[in-house]
Amino acid sequence: MLGRRYHRRVPQTTLMERYAAHLPVTPRTPRLTLGEGGTPLVRAPWLEGETGIGEVWLKVEGANPTGSFKDRGMVVAIAKAVEEGARAVLCASTGNTSASAAAYAARAGLRCTVVLPAGYVALGKLVQAIAHGARIVAVRGPFDAALTVVRELGESGEATIVNSINPYRIEGQKTAAFEVCEALGDAPDALCIPVGNAGNITAYWRGFVEAEKARMSSHRPRMFGFQAAGAAPLVSGKPVDEPHTVATAIRIGKPASWDGAIRARDESRGAIDAVTDDEILDAYRDLARHEGVFCEPASAAAVAGLRKRARAGAMNGVRRVVCVLTGNGLKDPDTAQTLAEPTLEVDATADAVRRALASA
Ligand code: F0G
Repeated sequence: MLGRRYHRRVPQTTLMERYAAHLPVTPRTPRLTLGEGGTPLVRAPWLEGETGIGEVWLKVEGANPTGSFKDRGMVVAIAKAVEEGARAVLCASTGNTSASAAAYAARAGLRCTVVLPAGYVALGKLVQAIAHGARIVAVRGPFDAALTVVRELGESGEATIVNSINPYRIEGQKTAAFEVCEALGDAPDALCIPVGNAGNITAYWRGFVEAEKARMSSHRPRMFGFQAAGAAPLVSGKPVDEPHTVATAIRIGKPASWDGAIRARDESRGAIDAVTDDEILDAYRDLARHEGVFCEPASAAAVAGLRKRARAGAMNGVRRVVCVLTGNGLKDPDTAQTLAEPTLEVDATADAVRRALASA
């Protein structure tokens, strides 16, 4: 008896079913899912020690089906596209949106076209779009130029745009805030999050506002967004024509959800700051080596920002903080390889391996 109960399968509800009351789903919305959401919230003891903050938690969004938070919004956007009769979807992307769109479009039987900034999409993301059969075009220019092209192509009505300018994307992404409140039993005091096109900070803020109204939480967190120093229009207050950063996911000069990010910052008494590429790479390495959590460089911007604020005494009064790790480290193998010397290759004997280790 005990054995049977122990092995009984827990019925799985999909993200859209679980939060149907908060999402634009109707009886006609297809029950699309690849198992998105329900990602781990992992405590970060090493960061707690370093920052002196009582509780630091990592929301590991790289555990989503295509390896990033995009799946939460994409499942809703693609399901609604099917419901509304679309045959094809279209997006501009620094990589993760395109990987997610390609996967969910494949699942739903829609054609998918992705427009990418040439030369600046991490390898893991590009191969996902290829594997799922998306039509891929790279344009000369940053993400912002690709999005301008996509907006124009979308106007013809041939394909539904599934960037975060599609409101269903933001709706789906806000579910991460619900999960955080449920896992902790309340909202955290602060949320640290990387900011690129600014859809996700907009979505989290909406989620926390709705969570408070629905009594999932007693308060709202302060929102701390972090941009890369070479791509920080929300910090300087003006668009950046030639954004640059090692964190290619957030190499964006003119965020589409600019107003949403500013509202999240101001209504929550938060801040949007910049972190340098060195600070990003330090956090990226330290998360992998001390917490055992491998995220992509853009995600590490959230932790780089937390550390920077903590060092400056700008987290005083914050007892519980959540950092959103937006994407999986495997997305960007090229940056991961820069963390170490090339792997030593020797004969297959214990002696040879011992000698190699001694000389390393
Ligand atoms: N982290 C990762 C891993 C991302 O891929 C992105 C955005 C962000 C953070 C920033 O989120 O744009 O909502 O502020 N990636 C988009 C893409 C732009 O095309 O995949 P945001």
